[in-house]
Amino acid sequence: MEDEVLENISSFIYNRFRHDATGHDFYHMKRVAKMAKRLAVLEGADPFISETAGWLHDTLDPKLTENLTEAKQEVINLLEFCHIPQKEQKQILRAMEAVSFKSGHRIPQCIEGKVVQDADRLDAIGAIGIARAFSFGGAKGQALHSETSEETTIRHFYDKLLKIQGLLNTPSAVKIGQKRHDFLETYLHQFYEEWM
Ligand code: ADP
Ligand code: NI
Repeated sequence: MEDEVLENISSFIYNRFRHDATGHDFYHMKRVAKMAKRLAVLEGADPFISETAGWLHDTLDPKLTENLTEAKQEVINLLEFCHIPQKEQKQILRAMEAVSFKSGHRIPQCIEGKVVQDADRLDAIGAIGIARAFSFGGAKGQALHSETSEETTIRHFYDKLLKIQGLLNTPSAVKIGQKRHDFLETYLHQFYEEWM
């Protein structure tokens, strides 16, 4: 039953995000869903609620949707179509909320929200995080790096990426994040060496 639901949700997300070029493609959703489930198991959160909220976490992002009310209704219709009980629907929406609405550094109240937020943040660091940042920067027409103070992708490392490790909610995410954080530092070190 849960497998069938996740299959339906993954198809919905595929159709919704397959043309995205802003770093929010289908595989970002898939990685966040899988990581949310992994963290849920480690942290004693509900794995199904966390994985489902992981798949859906960017569907209510104001940047990515024109009509929030409509987008929320679409998610509710999907959960109804999948015969997810009201109580679980509420838990899923709650877990998505803190992540979807760009609420600064708001810490989600429920443990499922915490693991989904951690999973999303982990995807912004490490090798994949670096690839996403340069891909986002390219789509925006932003320079890699600059010797003046303009906005660049390297600057985004300092504005956001290097701070992520210190913002993670759960000990399991902190453990996984360490290697990815160290990789950012190694990467920057080599970048400057080559820049000269
Ligand atoms: P999400 O909604 O998944 O939390 P964001 O919308 O903040 O993530 O960003 C999507 C991706 O684009 C992330 O990998 C992020 O690091 C990258 N990104 C966001 N802003 C910039 C920027 N100004 N320069 C380079 N990369 C960016
Ligand atoms: Ni995301």
